[in-house]
Amino acid sequence: MRQHGLPAPVIDTGRPHSARIYDYLLGGKDNYRVDERAGDALVAAASQERAGARANRAFLERAVRHVVAAGVRQIIDIGAGLPHHPNVHEVARATAPGVGVAYVDNDPIVIAHADALLSGSGRVGVALADLRDPHGIVEHPRVRDVIDFGRPVALLLVSVLHFLSRAERPEQAVAALRDALVAGSCLVLSHATDDFADCSAAQAVYATATTPLTPRSRHEIAEFLDGFELLEPGLVPVSSWRPDAPYAARTPAGGYGAVARKAG
Ligand SMILES: C[S@@+](CC[C@H](N)C(=O)[O-])C[C@H]1O[C@@H](n2cnc3c(N)ncnc32)[C@H](O)[C@@H]1O
Repeated sequence: MRQHGLPAPVIDTGRPHSARIYDYLLGGKDNYRVDERAGDALVAAASQERAGARANRAFLERAVRHVVAAGVRQIIDIGAGLPHHPNVHEVARATAPGVGVAYVDNDPIVIAHADALLSGSGRVGVALADLRDPHGIVEHPRVRDVIDFGRPVALLLVSVLHFLSRAERPEQAVAALRDALVAGSCLVLSHATDDFADCSAAQAVYATATTPLTPRSRHEIAEFLDGFELLEPGLVPVSSWRPDAPYAARTPAGGYGAVARKAG
């Protein structure tokens, strides 16, 4: 069976999965023994791995608050991950009640949890779809239920693009999504890098998981921002993106983050 031109999803609990490893690193309970072992192996390889996951999530929250304060009222969160409090719609609605959020992920377990927990929240959609099929995301009925592509959208690609290999041409997926957005829309992006530290041990752990990890250099990550104008402070380590407190910027970060705006 195929969905949007891709093989139909299979729930694989025998191998670690990025969403569940991340949930484990953030202190969540929606993971299995294989994910816990993979998370422990990541921490053994790089002791700051847990702090890096928290720094990434904190960046996401600051960036969402920023785009909503700037006036955006609808969000597509691709690679949304397992529900984690505060969820994106909760962060957004603390600034502006009624912000619409479409959560998209290609992991059926993520979607099952998200559906159960989030879809009763009004103007929240949950869609099983794949970043490698951007048109399938834009056309997905559960995305269309909450997102009006005639108005500005914040597109979240937070800690997901590094799960696409170079051969999968992630830049083409980002460009297709960008082209579906009107001027004034925003891209919130974070991405793992090996600019700060060698990632080969982490890559070896993810090689045993359902999705391998492809860290990229700052230069490669900047190419995803093509067609967008970077907001200050630009593409920086996630903990340095508008930190809430000066000491927060010193949190170790395993990736870069940026918020950018599609110009007219
Ligand atoms: C590390 S989690 C990130 C969660 C959340 N975005 C955050 O940063 O807090 C990565 C998520 O991306 C999802 N993912 C990986 N490859 C994907 C793809 N090709 N299409 C959609 N989602 C994908 C995984 O299932 C997982 O839930």
